[in-house]
Amino acid sequence: MRKVRIVLCGVGAVGALIAKFLLQKEGVEIVGAVDTDENKVNKDLGEVLNLQTRLGITVSNDADLVLGETKPDIAVQATSSFLRDTYPQIVTIVKNGVNVVSTCEELSYPYSVDQRLSEELDSLAKKHDVTVLGTGVNPGFLMDTLVITLTAPCQRIDKIEATRVMNAATRRLPFQKKIGAGLTIQEFKRKIQSRAITGHVGLEQSIRMIAEALAWKLERVVVEPVEAVVAEKNTASESIEVRAGNAAGLKQRARGIMNGKDVIVLDFQAYLGAEEEFDSVEIKGVPDVKQRIQPCVHGDAATIAMVVNMIPKVINAKPGLLTMKDLPVPSAAPEDMRKYVSL
Ligand SMILES: NC(=O)c1ccc[n+]([C@@H]2O[C@H](COP(=O)([O-])OP(=O)(O)OC[C@H]3O[C@@H](n4cnc5c(N)ncnc54)[C@H](OP(=O)(O)O)[C@@H]3O)[C@@H](O)[C@H]2O)c1
Repeated sequence: MRKVRIVLCGVGAVGALIAKFLLQKEGVEIVGAVDTDENKVNKDLGEVLNLQTRLGITVSNDADLVLGETKPDIAVQATSSFLRDTYPQIVTIVKNGVNVVSTCEELSYPYSVDQRLSEELDSLAKKHDVTVLGTGVNPGFLMDTLVITLTAPCQRIDKIEATRVMNAATRRLPFQKKIGAGLTIQEFKRKIQSRAITGHVGLEQSIRMIAEALAWKLERVVVEPVEAVVAEKNTASESIEVRAGNAAGLKQRARGIMNGKDVIVLDFQAYLGAEEEFDSVEIKGVPDVKQRIQPCVHGDAATIAMVVNMIPKVINAKPGLLTMKDLPVPSAAPEDMRKYVSL
């Protein structure tokens, strides 16, 4: 059987890690790469990935051209967190008759962002007989798909709480900067106002996905403002020093409300010096379910794995705009990709 043909749309931090993982993997072939960054366009993908070898794939800024010439089975998109930014390119991919798996956080449950646009995308995907999925580790797994799976043994559910606490000192520098580590509290607040710090994108999507799986009609979802985690003592990563009283990172909560009560609560915390790193899910109901992963799942490694592991499931799926809860139980695809896919 031939290899699974893949075009990369976006070879930034995450796209590059996905590319490197795919290059080691059997049964897949990167046949094209697209990026808008002028430092990458017209360069060999090997150079963009800082490899010692050329790959014979020139990074282009014209997705339509690349897709038309290479006719891949799937495009892996890692460009933006927001539906309206990614939408035009997804339309281009779909119109080329190509499946999409994207790291766009809002695409993980796009109906909560724009119902009309989501329905249009669903129709377009069906018309062109392809599948579109937004996924990643969070949103995409830890605070939604995993939570939904853990509700399976429950007869009754009163409340769900999912918490992710991450020591950002072990994460890449752009992430540490993105969460405001090292800033004074005033600087942190200014960056929130200017939207230089946006917090975690995807909490609302995760809550909506869980609610839909349980057929819960939420009155509303409240995404609380991002807050600084104030360092209690001096702390540091390899590149950033945080003085006591300054921001070590951020925290954010979101709540899904039904019958006036918080029934789904998600709590995301990422900061330098977190002593305990964990992902936990607590379901109060019959029976209660408590699950804790310690230390927390590594965000970058897991995002790359989620995206690549979902490739065969997306290719095999019925056409349309799907979310993680619409697909078979997620699993790793550690062997030759051709073992999982029906082309
Ligand atoms: N769901 C999850 O769990 C999860 C996990 C990790 C990351 N993500 C998300 O995945 C996205 C990518 O992350 P990243 O860290 O790799 O970001 P990044 O380093 O900023 O890389 C994005 C790359 O895509 C390029 N780009 C932007 N628009 C494009 C377009 N229309 N066509 C082709 N290329 C385009 C950018 O070029 P320019 O520099 O020209 O803009 C940049 O080179 C982010 O939104 C991130 O939040 C999601």
